[in-house]
Amino acid sequence: MTDTGSADKTAMRPASDLLVVVGARPNFMKAASIIPAAHEAGLTTTLVHTGQHYDDDLSKIFIEELELEEPDISLGVGSGTHATQTARVMLEFEQVLSRIRPRVVVVVGDVNSTIACALVARKERYPVAHVEAGLRCFDPLMPEEINRTLTDHLSTHLFTTSVDADENLAREGIDAATVYFVGNTMIDTLLRFRTAAVERRAPARFGLDDKPYALLTLHRPANVDEPGQLEEVLDVAAELSAEIPFVFPVHPRTRARLEGTAVAQRLSGLASFIQTEPLGYLDFVGLVAGAHLVLTDSGGIQEETTVLGIPCLTLRDSTERPVTVSQGTNVVVGTDPTRIRAEARKAIAGERPAARRPEKWDGLAGRRIVEVLARLPR
Ligand code: UD1
Repeated sequence: MTDTGSADKTAMRPASDLLVVVGARPNFMKAASIIPAAHEAGLTTTLVHTGQHYDDDLSKIFIEELELEEPDISLGVGSGTHATQTARVMLEFEQVLSRIRPRVVVVVGDVNSTIACALVARKERYPVAHVEAGLRCFDPLMPEEINRTLTDHLSTHLFTTSVDADENLAREGIDAATVYFVGNTMIDTLLRFRTAAVERRAPARFGLDDKPYALLTLHRPANVDEPGQLEEVLDVAAELSAEIPFVFPVHPRTRARLEGTAVAQRLSGLASFIQTEPLGYLDFVGLVAGAHLVLTDSGGIQEETTVLGIPCLTLRDSTERPVTVSQGTNVVVGTDPTRIRAEARKAIAGERPAARRPEKWDGLAGRRIVEVLARLPR
């Protein structure tokens, strides 16, 4: 376990309105929409960082760049098996709740920290708000699908990004009176920082200013923990890099799996296949905005490419974000090399899906969430 340095600025403070939980990289963008909206509405917040992600380039840089305050409480749970990580968060979070006594606990997304804190909070009878509720890819074995489904069924306030999510929740018997279609907090943050991100000219730092390039990210266990699968996908990317340069920011999970493999060696010999450390928020958004094509297994990036109008190939068999396909730029290609090659070549040739921005992805989701939560009794 890596210690993030247990920090607690809350000892002398009165009970907080919103206790907002973050743990892993994709959580920070969502918190960065909700917290300023809460402050604007005169509500107090306590930010709890579980420490699921602890490397500076997966955590600290996001807090700084997104102008989030330093977490009030850091639990420092670190890495571990699913059970270990979830259990550690639960043990620590139970203590935190009894000190902070918030009006509501706000959890976001679908990571282990999300389910762990929702479960503890609900058993302690706190209202639980789940931001990004109702997303389903219908793969019951995916860890994130387990986390988000269970979190939804524990939550008292479910905030959705799209109408299909409302439909999923209705089908599962969740009371519609607890569901609020508010839009997308991830997109609030994207719209707020887009100009600053582009101004940093990240593509130029990779020698790619004004040149077409493809951006690749991979970190899902289903893709990277299976050596054959990882190799197959990377070999197609390597082949395509002869037609368009690739940038590949490598997630720590993926880096660990690649170490010492033959495919890693093949890739390191390719000048047009640029590997880099994970990037901060602004540089990453800058690279997405300038890309000709994005290939990814991330959820959030499917949404960001939709709003930025950049073709996105999702390297998974399903998506929990169908609106990015029906209205956005996303094509779910799976991991079959033939399909990846064919769809990538269409994008390389300049074919662009006619995309529009999904309903309520307008920068105001955080405010809509806060409007609802402000009505909770003190
Ligand atoms: C987690 C989330 C996933 C999210 C992703 C974003 C779950 C179940 N998964 O997956 O939904 O899309 O975060 O990155 O919650 N590691 C480091 N430094 C860190 C954190 C992790 O090096 O700061 C390494 C560790 O060796 C760890 C591995 O990366 O074993 C994976 O970390 P883990 O916490 O399991 O989550 P992710 O795979 O990142």
